[in-house]
Amino acid sequence: MERGNFGSKIGAVLASAGSAVGLGNIWRFPTECGSNGGAAFILIYLLCILLLAMPVMIAEFVIGRASRSNTVGSYRVLAPGKPWVVSGFLGVLAGFLVLSYYSVVAGWTLDYTFESLTGGLMTSDNFGTMFNDFVSSPWRPVIFLSVFLLLTHIVVAAGIEKGIERCSKIMMPMLLLIIFILMGFSLNMPNAAEGIRFMLKPDFSKVTKDVVLSAMGQAFFTLSVGMGTLATYASYFKKETKLIPSALGVCTIDTIVAISAGFIIFPAVFSVGVSANSGPGLVFITLPYVFQKAFGDLPVLEYIFSGLFYILLLLAALTSSISMHEISTAYIHETFKLTRQKAATIVTIVCLLLGIVCSLSFGIWKHITVAGMGFFDLFDFITAKFLMPLGGLLICTFVGWDMNKKMVANELNSRFTPLLMLLFSWVAPIGIGIIFVYGLISK
Ligand code: TRP
Repeated sequence: MERGNFGSKIGAVLASAGSAVGLGNIWRFPTECGSNGGAAFILIYLLCILLLAMPVMIAEFVIGRASRSNTVGSYRVLAPGKPWVVSGFLGVLAGFLVLSYYSVVAGWTLDYTFESLTGGLMTSDNFGTMFNDFVSSPWRPVIFLSVFLLLTHIVVAAGIEKGIERCSKIMMPMLLLIIFILMGFSLNMPNAAEGIRFMLKPDFSKVTKDVVLSAMGQAFFTLSVGMGTLATYASYFKKETKLIPSALGVCTIDTIVAISAGFIIFPAVFSVGVSANSGPGLVFITLPYVFQKAFGDLPVLEYIFSGLFYILLLLAALTSSISMHEISTAYIHETFKLTRQKAATIVTIVCLLLGIVCSLSFGIWKHITVAGMGFFDLFDFITAKFLMPLGGLLICTFVGWDMNKKMVANELNSRFTPLLMLLFSWVAPIGIGIIFVYGLISK
């Protein structure tokens, strides 16, 4: 079967960066950073990116490009008859689950974009009630979730070069631009220095086992590693694309966006004197309040600032959801010989149904729990604490120990190959193993 390809190197890097940069950077990173004490968390997070998550990313690139196949197919090509293929199936499963609950949050973002552009956000006087009423209502979030999935579907069904690459090439630079504008606003707010201090001055007395674990989890989530997403993307890379510099590029962009999101949110949060550790509501409850308080006398600025912010979050969510959709679409398209459109339709419908279940778990299905968790939390737990670490562990171990050494060296094509082999075979599996085991026993 003829496979799509990214038309250019920069397109390939931007699309991978688009997968990595998402709600994880702009919503989850500030939330985690705020609840885990700021600067010290950031330092540990950066170490985890470097030593654990980036090696997994490079290993995924190696697997994808060497096999030129989807996540499941790649193990069939590289290690026929061996059980590694399980890791591919786990990736496809994780792709479905993450996309389902991710689309719920993306749907909220779409609603907030809509509300901020139509002025609804400016007239509200209690953002907490507004948010809680919204997420627990049976219809509204489901409608926005469906619209978001439909947008994702349209891009994926259009194919690799025309859909994913073109979209990323336009959206990623736009996103960076919006981020820098917002950061300019935020850093100039009164008392912004306190927020900057929160992000730069580490207080190691606040570091606990939990902080380290949250930092590791965040590193995985934010780089989209452990599910074979990036292996699928790398299967569309050209032969000349250099894997290590590409991975470095993606990690750099991802980190810049996360840290910048912190520099947008924390100076603003401290400037208006609200608490930094208010959890997942930071972006949907605290931030609209910040906009209102900061620009109350200048409604035009409030309108522009909040509108830009939610558009930014939406773009970031869309480039990530496209990649999650692609893992499963590529698998179904290539394995069952269905057309891309049909495969994409199946993925969209399944994710829509699962997404509705997640969305309703904030409202009418709140009482239904499995192991003490509602569906939304359950999906988050199964993927972030179980499937992603397990996948990362298997991916690194496969490339470090079982994959043909010459082939790996060929793909890496770098003088850093021995260092990377050390990371693949020892450092990453052991580090990830610790999160994984802890994640299970702490539950
Ligand atoms: N990295 C994405 C973000 O920061 C989220 C994500 C997690 C993801 N796992 C993924 C994206 C797998 C694509 C594929 O928002």
